Amino acid sequence: MTVTVGATVPTGFEHTAAEEVKEKIGADVRIGKDRGRIYFEVSTDKLFQVHLLRSVDNLFVVVEEYQHYQFKESKEETLAELMQLVASLPWANALEVWRLNNSLKKRRGRRRGANGAKGKAKSEAPDAANAEEKEPQLPETQLSCEAQALDEARPLDEARPGPVSSSLGPEDAPSEPKLIKFRVTCNRAGDKHSFSSNEAARDFGGAVQDFFQWKADMTKFDIEVLLNIHNEEVVIGIALTEESLHRRNITHFGPTTLRSTLCYGMLRLCNPQPSDVILDPMCGTGALPLEGAIEFNSAFYIGGDNNDMAINRTVNNISHVQKRKEEGDSAPGLPIDSVQWDVCRLPVRTGSVDIILSDMPFGKRMGSRKKNWDLYPSCLREMARVVRPGCGTAVLLTQDKKCFSKAVSRMGGLWKKSHTVWVNVGGLHAGVFLLKRTTGTFGETPEDIYEAQGNRNREGNVREDKELS
Ligand SMILES: C[S@@+](CC[C@H](N)C(=O)[O-])C[C@H]1O[C@@H](n2cnc3c(N)ncnc32)[C@H](O)[C@@H]1O
Repeated sequence: MTVTVGATVPTGFEHTAAEEVKEKIGADVRIGKDRGRIYFEVSTDKLFQVHLLRSVDNLFVVVEEYQHYQFKESKEETLAELMQLVASLPWANALEVWRLNNSLKKRRGRRRGANGAKGKAKSEAPDAANAEEKEPQLPETQLSCEAQALDEARPLDEARPGPVSSSLGPEDAPSEPKLIKFRVTCNRAGDKHSFSSNEAARDFGGAVQDFFQWKADMTKFDIEVLLNIHNEEVVIGIALTEESLHRRNITHFGPTTLRSTLCYGMLRLCNPQPSDVILDPMCGTGALPLEGAIEFNSAFYIGGDNNDMAINRTVNNISHVQKRKEEGDSAPGLPIDSVQWDVCRLPVRTGSVDIILSDMPFGKRMGSRKKNWDLYPSCLREMARVVRPGCGTAVLLTQDKKCFSKAVSRMGGLWKKSHTVWVNVGGLHAGVFLLKRTTGTFGETPEDIYEAQGNRNREGNVREDKELS
């Protein structure tokens, strides 16, 4: 059986995700109108491989999609029509895939939500719920068919089609038929709707409940039905992931830990080659070099940071992944090391690094905009020193675009901007800048001359003497 699978991906990395799907599953990808979503056809025998994709956050199987859904004028009519839609949808294949997916998944004990924590890693620090770690914010996301929940679900209607079977798949097979619990999640974007996400989820959920005789449960659900509405595009799906797949490597979080899926996208931009030396000189919790050491393990990674706590977290994250490897069947060891250092004075030989990969302080949660006017030019200069002239690259993420662009434009002899991927990092519009190292020898270009701190004003212009005095 072939079905359409949808996936949410870090916004801006849709094309990178499409490349990965083509490479690993052989499927052509359609990029959703709604940014951050991709769709591809897959036969059910490849379902397992879909879970091994590294650039996807959440997966779902599509029940039905409408590119140009004509919403009625009034809220009442629209909601009534959405409710009527439920009975006419082709649920059977999607539910079959959901069942198959259950049997593929490792049994994780209690399902997400059973203890109220939505997929949080055990040792996740409270500060992990931060701007750069948050789930991408859709304009309006609500789940709310709670109001429709019945205390007791009614008996299954034998006359209904296949989907009403209460089997949860081989692993979950209960001795007696188990009542299926579900919830509806509505993700809605667009300002021309007469209804809220909450109302759509509630009414659609009520109709799902009536049709299947499932029981609504917001936290301990077996099935999550998705109602994705983006302007006039409507996609109905069933979730195949309980928690975002970006939570895979990091156990010791920091205030700005990057999602592993975004790290993967940045790494693909770097295109690491065997024996490449790859540096993240401001690694925080080590999310970028760790993802690299796991997924592109024929290169060698060094993560450094000047902050004690950050380095401790990196060391802990690396050893956690090492331990997991030892416990599994995979070969022990990871091609990664960590060092405490200052990015502006790296203990690294000139021209010895192939790639610099880093998530720079945005100056919001980490550092300050003011400090960036000094930090960015200094670190770009030091990066240019350690990277191989002519072939070295830097892939740098920042939201402080003005400061970054100014610093790069003043270093034309050392760095050339290749291209930029615009991404959404926890709701912030940021850029992943790909820089190519020029052939210029470090120490022989005007850009190497160190400009003492304070000789620039906030816009990065050299101050006049009178301004300095
Ligand atoms: C945006 S955070 C990196 C977050 C990281 N990608 C992660 O996933 O945890 C920027 C990091 O730069 C570090 N940093 C700032 N100034 C630095 C300097 N002069 N030398 C080295 N690291 C520095 C901060 O300590 C911080 O951990």
